[in-house]
Amino acid sequence: MAGTKHTSAVQDSARKTAAELNPNGPTGRPRREFAVPPTLAQHGPARIISLCNQKGGVGKTTTTISLSAALAEYGRRVLVVDFDPQGALSAGLGISTHDSNTVYDLLLGTVKDPAEVIQHTAIEGLDVLPANIDLSAAEVHLVNEVARETILARVLRKVSDDYDVILIDCQPSLGLLTVNALTASHGVLIPLECEFFALRGVALLIETIDKVRDRLNPAIELDGILATMYDSRTLHSREVLERVVDAFGEKVLETVIGRTVKFPDASVAGTPITEFAPEHAAAKAYRQLARELISRGAIA
Ligand SMILES: Nc1ncnc2c1ncn2[C@@H]1O[C@H](COP(=O)(O)OP(=O)(O)OP(=O)(O)O)[C@@H](O)[C@H]1O
Ligand SMILES: [Mg+2]
Repeated sequence: MAGTKHTSAVQDSARKTAAELNPNGPTGRPRREFAVPPTLAQHGPARIISLCNQKGGVGKTTTTISLSAALAEYGRRVLVVDFDPQGALSAGLGISTHDSNTVYDLLLGTVKDPAEVIQHTAIEGLDVLPANIDLSAAEVHLVNEVARETILARVLRKVSDDYDVILIDCQPSLGLLTVNALTASHGVLIPLECEFFALRGVALLIETIDKVRDRLNPAIELDGILATMYDSRTLHSREVLERVVDAFGEKVLETVIGRTVKFPDASVAGTPITEFAPEHAAAKAYRQLARELISRGAIA
């Protein structure tokens, strides 16, 4: 026992030295501590944030799951919206969608009350509007609707007062579903994988956000760009991140998510990383992301 203590004390002091030697974080800005936020005296109305990037596999769903769980730990009431027919968000939170209502029913109006669709997760304060493959028919079904871009916004308005934050996990496309998500949102968070083609397509994404701002939702803001799957040991990761910071400056969040196999493991378990491996660096990184977004005012 004493040995363990001794080892971790040595590790701690080694870590401190590393931070002291390099006072800058991975984004090149000075490392900062984000304070643990005070609990909220009252809840709602929610700020709605889309996690959006038409590039596949950049960490949208992982970030939605892990960030929402971290926010719930800080006492926030969180609703996550699975807006991808793959249903990975629902599965990653251990929600089965075989014969339950889904967000698709709300979009089509076959179910009117979101309470009949919302499912509670095992985590207190974290609810889900689930999806399954039915949602893949939505774009075709909704294309002739009046005000087809604002359908999700109208659905979420009904529940907004019950939550502090609503996170929408978008599918990897810029089609009608994603435009619905952006139209319903106050903010957008763009996860970017730290690899060579990370910036490809981001211009088109920003252009889409600008169009939505012009035509449908003047209030939408870019809340931040989140670097994911960062590997500090590779020059490649560091160079990509440097380029992202050159391009987006202060919009790049200071919190950077490292690459680790714990994420696939947590998905298989249907549990957020913050519960699956609470002390893992990746769980701590998502808690820091929650604190950073709260300190930036993106979340109450
Ligand atoms: N920081 C990370 N380190 C290692 N693996 C990760 C990390 N974040 C996510 N992954 C893994 O990468 C894969 C893609 O992640 P995720 O599903 O979150 O991306 P996505 O952007 O939602 O993908 P899609 O565009 O298909 O919806 C998953 O297998 C996930 O477990
Ligand atoms: Mg996804």
